[in-house]
Amino acid sequence: MRLNQAVELQGRLVALVPYTARHVLRYHQWMKSEELQKLTASEPLTLEQEYQMQRNWQDDADKCTFIVLDKLKWVGGLCTEEDCMVGDVNLFLTDPEDPTIAEIEIMIAEPSYRGKGFGKETTMVMMYYGVTKLGIKKFQAKINLENTISIAMFQSFHFEEGNRRDDLKTGNLKQIWHQNLTRSLNSSGPEYLWPLNIRKKCLFVLAAVKAFQMAESLEKH
Ligand SMILES: CC(C)(COP(=O)(O)OP(=O)(O)OC[C@H]1O[C@@H](n2cnc3c(N)ncnc32)[C@H](O)[C@@H]1OP(=O)(O)O)[C@@H](O)C(=O)NCCC(=O)NCCS
Repeated sequence: MRLNQAVELQGRLVALVPYTARHVLRYHQWMKSEELQKLTASEPLTLEQEYQMQRNWQDDADKCTFIVLDKLKWVGGLCTEEDCMVGDVNLFLTDPEDPTIAEIEIMIAEPSYRGKGFGKETTMVMMYYGVTKLGIKKFQAKINLENTISIAMFQSFHFEEGNRRDDLKTGNLKQIWHQNLTRSLNSSGPEYLWPLNIRKKCLFVLAAVKAFQMAESLEKH
């Protein structure tokens, strides 16, 4: 998606930067892991296919992707951007007739970074960006039934169980989880406080470390 090509998002732990060609080599290394292929229901690609995929994510209007960086390493300038990479997060507009629906995908690829809050913060920042900048009102996540950690995380974001489906590519059974913000966004009633909670959590991050910045560096060429 061209829209996010000059956007950097920062949380307390993570910085999200647009996925560019410089990230592909490391990404390709990650996706050689059979564990990650299974957890994300992905198939291994050649390096050339991975570059092509990166161009698609960059150019296609229905895809928005960011690379997740370890923010502390990144802002400290202790390493190259590629060395700060810990995962990726995507929004995919699944319904051409309704651009308010997005599938969200998240991967904290570096095992040593899992279970430390990176996935949760990344998801929160991405959903916040989706709601406030892309006008998303409904999120979906397609998760392997065996991926209990991912299920627990999306449940903590108030996603609700939907249909189960066989993934034709991998043969795994997946379940679709939904987070419908439509009613919530149109209501200020106490029962619909979830999007406010997203906002509050982001503001909490901001207050804690002056960190939630939607830094749109428009100068980027
Ligand atoms: C699933 C994934 C995104 C979670 O991110 P993470 O950084 O590891 O998890 P976090 O530390 O942010 O924790 C988020 C939530 O996940 C759940 N969780 C994390 N680690 C867990 C564990 N070991 N056991 C059970 N639940 C766990 C909890 O609900 C946790 O929320 P809480 O801390 O409020 O209880 C990450 O583990 C990952 O990318 N794994 C590999 C790829 C993958 O499975 N992607 C998802 C495809 S749908």
